[in-house]
Amino acid sequence: MESNQETAFSAVSVAFSSLGRVCLALDRQLRVLHVSGALDDLLGPGASRAWSGRSIAEFLGDELFGEAGPLRQALLAGERREGWRAWLRVEPSGTLLCSVTVAPLQHAPAGVCPKEAAYLLVLRPAEEDEATRGLAPTAFGGVIARSHGMTRVLKLVQSLQSSEASVLLTGESGTGKGLLARAIHDHSPRRAGPFVAVNCAALPEQLLETELFGHVRGAFTGAVRDRVGRFELAAGGTLFLDEVGDVPLHLQAKLLRALQERTYERVGESRSKDTDVRVIAATHRDLKRAVEEGRFREDLFYRLRVFPIEIPPLRTRREDVEPVARYLLARVGARSGRELRFSPEALRALLAYPWPGNVRELENALEYAVTVAPGQTLQPEDLPPEVMGRTGVTDGPPPPPAGALERTVARPRAARSNGAVPPCEALVGALESSHWRVTEAAGALGVSRTTLWRWMREYRLSR
Ligand SMILES: Nc1ncnc2c1ncn2[C@@H]1O[C@H](COP(=O)(O)OP(=O)(O)OP(=O)(O)O)[C@@H](O)[C@H]1O
Ligand SMILES: [Mg+2]
Repeated sequence: MESNQETAFSAVSVAFSSLGRVCLALDRQLRVLHVSGALDDLLGPGASRAWSGRSIAEFLGDELFGEAGPLRQALLAGERREGWRAWLRVEPSGTLLCSVTVAPLQHAPAGVCPKEAAYLLVLRPAEEDEATRGLAPTAFGGVIARSHGMTRVLKLVQSLQSSEASVLLTGESGTGKGLLARAIHDHSPRRAGPFVAVNCAALPEQLLETELFGHVRGAFTGAVRDRVGRFELAAGGTLFLDEVGDVPLHLQAKLLRALQERTYERVGESRSKDTDVRVIAATHRDLKRAVEEGRFREDLFYRLRVFPIEIPPLRTRREDVEPVARYLLARVGARSGRELRFSPEALRALLAYPWPGNVRELENALEYAVTVAPGQTLQPEDLPPEVMGRTGVTDGPPPPPAGALERTVARPRAARSNGAVPPCEALVGALESSHWRVTEAAGALGVSRTTLWRWMREYRLSR
């Protein structure tokens, strides 16, 4: 940076540090061009030097500044975002919660800023900011939160960073249990180790046992070679027992022993093996009730829920809908290389809908919308019919807006070019058996997600 530019930037920096803020200039690739010395006051000596020339995503996280990060997307679209929360990684002690504001730099007079400076970022510690907590969105490990309920969940996750305690995540389907399990692992002492997930609901008892513990050759017909179990694969890392409420009683005893005594036997072998895993379990079931009804072992229940975290349903934390929707839209759009935004009406429709399928349903609705939307701005008529239905002024299904009708009429050709549209019942069957997870259903039908969305649109299918 030339010296008069440096002087100009230093003057700005001093003004910002007097306000308790750190000021950074970023180039088009979101690399740090200049950072005020106030960063050293925040993070320790040498921090500002260490940041220079590096990508801002390295410090503030991919969830905000990666390819699909909402703040990157906002800057690329020439927009300003204020007061987003981010956790700064502070080695070795942990993390620091910050408030981040970003804006495109506006035509500065020559000599004030280096030519490459494209964006401005202002950072301030937000730890003490109890009064406003819950108002600004936070991102941690890919989890976006603005509501009190979800910010509390993130706080719990954060407090687990140096712990190896077993965690039990509960919450309705689609609330983000899988995502949180991953975030906990990624910020745990075992983050360098493997993260191994088992879906306990997906397999019959015998297969689940081999899946978990492995088997030796000849253990049963068809066991032609040894098989490594998930407990072994997860050694040194985290074992994620998804849908743990579905583990059959007989296997619960073996699971308890593996967790409590840290030993288990492979199927078909009597020699014990030691385990070294941290367990995170999740379920959408009411385990306490399952215990009362004798379907789930009480001792296993307490062994798993050393650290219980309950994720509230999306309908009870409406403040999250907008930031999560923006985040997911950027992610979905990035997959097809599109920069998309919501029209105010579309956003209003999203906010008015109760989201019984939680964030997963929101994500599916956005994928649907992105597929059918012709332009860059999503309109209400691009959203799935059930989302629209809730905001209509009339009872019953609202008449399709003119634009949507034209598009529906114009589209069947495109859908059919991917092969004949199967009968409606076949689509419903595939969707039902995949719990309306479009990716899975599309896989089962052997078509792309986009094709399935188009077919669903043709039959006006929705959950
Ligand atoms: N707070 C959030 N911020 C951003 N993305 C989220 C959030 N919560 C959930 N998601 C996204 O929503 C989708 C569903 O989340 P996830 O699969 O973790 O839910 P789940 O509770 O495990 O659901 P299920 O019970 O159906 O398995 C994922 O794509 C996830 O990345
Ligand atoms: Mg899940």
